[in-house]
Amino acid sequence: MQTSMQIIVLLEEICYTYILTKNGVIINMRMRKKRYGNERLTTLSSLMYTNPEEIWSDLPESYEIARPLRIEIGCGKGGFITALSKAEPDHNYLAVERVSDVMVCAIEKYAEERGLGTLASHGGWQKPDGSVCPYGEKWEIPMAERGNVRFTIGDAAEVLSHLPDNSVSDIYANFSDPWPKKGYADRRLTSPVFLKSYLRVLKPGGILHFKTDNDILFAYSVETVGESEFDLQFVTYDLHKSDRAEKNIMTEYERNFSEKGVLIKALEAVKR
Ligand SMILES: C[S@@+](CC[C@H](N)C(=O)[O-])C[C@H]1O[C@@H](n2cnc3c(N)ncnc32)[C@H](O)[C@@H]1O
Repeated sequence: MQTSMQIIVLLEEICYTYILTKNGVIINMRMRKKRYGNERLTTLSSLMYTNPEEIWSDLPESYEIARPLRIEIGCGKGGFITALSKAEPDHNYLAVERVSDVMVCAIEKYAEERGLGTLASHGGWQKPDGSVCPYGEKWEIPMAERGNVRFTIGDAAEVLSHLPDNSVSDIYANFSDPWPKKGYADRRLTSPVFLKSYLRVLKPGGILHFKTDNDILFAYSVETVGESEFDLQFVTYDLHKSDRAEKNIMTEYERNFSEKGVLIKALEAVKR
């Protein structure tokens, strides 16, 4: 049985705005303002970084076990990082998302999947022992229960700028905004500006994983990555029929696009 708070949250999730092109392709999905969004984030803030400027200084200690670090840029509602961190637990993960209302979904999804409780029926976060932590009050989640994912709200360019050279094993950029206007090309997550910062933070042999529904963004990305110091080791115009299909973890956007028949494009690029 779903509690009233869970039903409110479910309705909020459905209240995405879908704008369809002639081809049936979703070009925009907007999240409505979250009820008690900031308070809900505070409650689960032991899974988060709130000050990106200190990101590297205390990041390694915040994980229970030292493991190679993977970053997802624009984690959206968190389905991908939650599933990947479970499927491949031999890494630590940092989920970066600039919209705090979206991050509420991601962090609560991860917490629920890890068995760290759920939204309580009359507000607050219900912990596994049944007690409720009111919204806005921080729950000090025991380190051993936090798992291998941490979340940070901020712009990827800013977050990456605080990471040291050669510190990251993989970067995931899934269904990032296409920024179609030429004047905004530097904001695309595969622009030469971003590729330069990935090359700096990735370890040699580290991998950039990129997926999109968008043909124009994909063509642009194949070109920019091909011209960079990355080795383009894998390109597909139909990920779900490629040899990566079996291990592929679908994101929320990916599921929406593929249900509408849009082929998913993907590339992997290795730092030399
Ligand atoms: C189109 S959605 C895709 C969400 C998710 N990756 C998925 O595939 O379902 C892109 C997400 O990336 C976030 N985003 C875009 N550019 C970003 C940036 N420079 N830094 C952090 N987050 C970013 C947006 O806020 C949005 O939630």
